[in-house]
Amino acid sequence: MISGPLARYDTKLKQFHQKGRLRVLGTDAGADFTSNDYLGLAASPRMRAALVAALERGVPAGAGGSRLLRGNHAEHEALEEAAAIFFRSERMLYFGSGYAANVAVLSTLPQRGDLVVHDALVHASAYEGMRAGRAEVVPVPHNDAGAVEDAIRSWRAAGGTGCPWIVVESLYSMDGNRAPMFDLIEIADRHNGFLYIDEAHATGVHGIDGRGYAANLEGRDNVIVLHTCGKALGSSGALVGASRVICDFLVNRARPFIYATAPSPLQAASVRQALAILSEEPERRARLHALVDFANERFAERFGRAGSGTQILPVIIGDNGRTIRMAERMQSEGFDIRAIRPPTVPAGTARLRITITLNVDAPTITRMIDQLAVAMAEETP
Ligand SMILES: Cc1ncc(COP(=O)(O)O)c(C=O)c1O
Repeated sequence: MISGPLARYDTKLKQFHQKGRLRVLGTDAGADFTSNDYLGLAASPRMRAALVAALERGVPAGAGGSRLLRGNHAEHEALEEAAAIFFRSERMLYFGSGYAANVAVLSTLPQRGDLVVHDALVHASAYEGMRAGRAEVVPVPHNDAGAVEDAIRSWRAAGGTGCPWIVVESLYSMDGNRAPMFDLIEIADRHNGFLYIDEAHATGVHGIDGRGYAANLEGRDNVIVLHTCGKALGSSGALVGASRVICDFLVNRARPFIYATAPSPLQAASVRQALAILSEEPERRARLHALVDFANERFAERFGRAGSGTQILPVIIGDNGRTIRMAERMQSEGFDIRAIRPPTVPAGTARLRITITLNVDAPTITRMIDQLAVAMAEETP
């Protein structure tokens, strides 16, 4: 029994356990059906060689300080230049993580008097950024463009004079479905607002050349795009694509950018290599899309309903306990599938979040889906 100052935390952990919400760290547990390393780049020979080459030409492991002090390294700038060309953005700014970038953008750019309308299912880091900012924040139901427009109209009718912001993900991380991007940009244009698009799960996988679903919108003054580098790009960090003015403003005002040690220059070198791989090895994307189609077809055959159609295939179970049992069972069969529970997803929608990556092949997908059907039938609520 833990007592003293730790007792309240221990009690809460016990409550999490009772509700099936306790989280523990685990190592990899079989064939990869859970990572976001969609293109299988993280451990690829080309990424490894790029890091070795960077070390050999003297790129340091650590930046040694904030970008605004001595931490700004030629590797950061080379990456930002290469990324601006690749994504056709006026400028790109590299952050240590997507989490930090979302907090930076959303706590810094929307100003007091502005309105931020966001999809209810945006990532926790976007919530964190909006919470830290000064604008009014309104959630709208998932993928409901009409509700976005209504929220802006009501705010204007009530005297709102600032700038409206629309905050979405292009491909939702826990549902694998797409935002109605073209409706949203029309709304942003109509109301002189900004559209902020988190491309975390689309970057490298979807859109022209893997540039994401916002590929046609990037470079516009009222569009700001986040490309995370820890998912399909196989490294870490995140690139914010925006106009020069917006990037300069972030450099001057975004606390997560200013008051943090710059990302490792080695990490920047590896992201630059990932962008080169996207351009030079389009067959990776083609192979991934073929696997994704295969998995969605097998899924539909087995379960009698369509999958998400993308590389993120959620299987909503509902009950936390059953979801955990199913995940453990799949792991014991050699398939690394994890339970995603509230508060990461809405209450009552605990799920297995299955991802398709180039780290698995078609026969493994078939075996996984067959085993999943068995587990579904036997692990009753
Ligand atoms: C939609 C979305 N945005 C942002 C992030 C945060 O990115 P990072 O993992 O680079 O911090 C994630 C990752 O979990 C994500 O899924």
